[in-house]
Amino acid sequence: MTDNATFKHEDVELQLPVVKASNGNDGYNISQLLSKTGNVTLDPGFVNTASCESTITFIDGNEGILRYRGYPIEQLAEKSTFLEVAHLLIHGELPTQDVLDTFKYDVSNRMMLDERMRELYRCFPRGAHPMQVLSAGLSALGSFNRRTLDVHDPEQVNEASLRLIGSMPTLAAYAYKSSVGEPFQYPQKNLSYVENYLRLSFGTPQEDYEIDPAVVNAFETLFILHADHEQNCSTSTVRMVGSSDATMYASMSAGVNALSGPLHGGANQAVLEMLVKLREEGVDMKTYVAQVKDKKSGVKLMGFGHRVYKNHDPRATIIKGHADKLLRASGKSNDLLDMALELEEVALNDEYFISRKLYPNVDFYTGLIYEAMGFPANYFTALFTLGRLPGWIAQWREDHADPTRKISRPRQIYVGETERDYVPMDKR
Ligand code: CMC
Repeated sequence: MTDNATFKHEDVELQLPVVKASNGNDGYNISQLLSKTGNVTLDPGFVNTASCESTITFIDGNEGILRYRGYPIEQLAEKSTFLEVAHLLIHGELPTQDVLDTFKYDVSNRMMLDERMRELYRCFPRGAHPMQVLSAGLSALGSFNRRTLDVHDPEQVNEASLRLIGSMPTLAAYAYKSSVGEPFQYPQKNLSYVENYLRLSFGTPQEDYEIDPAVVNAFETLFILHADHEQNCSTSTVRMVGSSDATMYASMSAGVNALSGPLHGGANQAVLEMLVKLREEGVDMKTYVAQVKDKKSGVKLMGFGHRVYKNHDPRATIIKGHADKLLRASGKSNDLLDMALELEEVALNDEYFISRKLYPNVDFYTGLIYEAMGFPANYFTALFTLGRLPGWIAQWREDHADPTRKISRPRQIYVGETERDYVPMDKR
């Protein structure tokens, strides 16, 4: 293969350097295109556009492969812990025991929030969506950590990273507590990251929360599965906001807002709401799939489809196994799980889904697990955020370390009115 591709248009011919990938698609470097041709590229939704070179996460959507720093997701989900994976993503290598112990200690030391943050959280109305509260909380966290805001000082960046990871379980749990009007708990140093998170969410001053090791294990896995996913909508948002030298806190808060949408992280809430509605209305799965296929209905099968995965989403495969184990553990039947399984089967055998390569994604089964654990549906996306934070931090830091880094500033193809004269009010 040559190292250049030739671009030709009218009388202009341009050599585009081919950027080699270590795995996956190579890229054409088009950075000279505008200056040499006077024209730009158009790629709605960035379907064909690589925004950066990255060493963090590799996805092969046709083969259903996901790797963090080269390690297959299946191995990490089975053998690793969330904080170990967070360290791997941010620093590039699996930590030694000593390094991991220090990392855990540093994170645990940063779980307690400034007392005034609790006052802030008390101001949100009952029933506020936890993602709204969480994004506000992350922005506010920056104002309480003003010595960690210099994005060009590696020590401050490191401190902000630890502060964000440490504070996240407390911020997320307080977002939940404030929405249900329950008193906030304090984190405890003798508990692990996930244990603390569960206790902060479900413990009350009246009675302590009994930590179930099966639930802790499930969350370790779920958070690992969500920890990074290369240049998706929220991660690209984090990198874009960071490219203006906005603080890490501002960038992560923007990531939360991008993740909240139902086409992205908000799909886990949407899936459960879809299943509950189908149950309430007594709609059978075949009828629902027929509705989804009718474009005029405006209905999508939530938890299905992915921009990159065109075979299967490896995260969904792992989560489905956990959902089955956890939800059947009590020996009782679970009608929502049964509905999800039936819906999946109907869709996977339907020509509409087969021809478009639409498979269950990470969000199809997570909501069922979260619901069984007692979380309300509008809290599910905050759980996704908790898992995704180390990936955002790793991507933000990678962007800042890139010597070719520039502020993200896409161009456009203007198709509006050409110049015209102002029309006075009485002439319109
Ligand atoms: N239900 C019905 N039709 C679908 C669905 C779906 N869930 N997903 C895609 N399609 C159709 C779409 O209408 C289009 O049909 P046509 O070719 O006839 O116009 C075709 O499949 C290709 O879809 P697309 O919208 O061009 O694909 P995309 O890459 O732009 O969108 C997606 C990807 C995830 C936004 C989309 O599949 C979707 O909206 N899924 C439902 C929401 C969801 O589950 N989101 C979670 C994604 S995984 C978690 C995360 O990382 O965010």
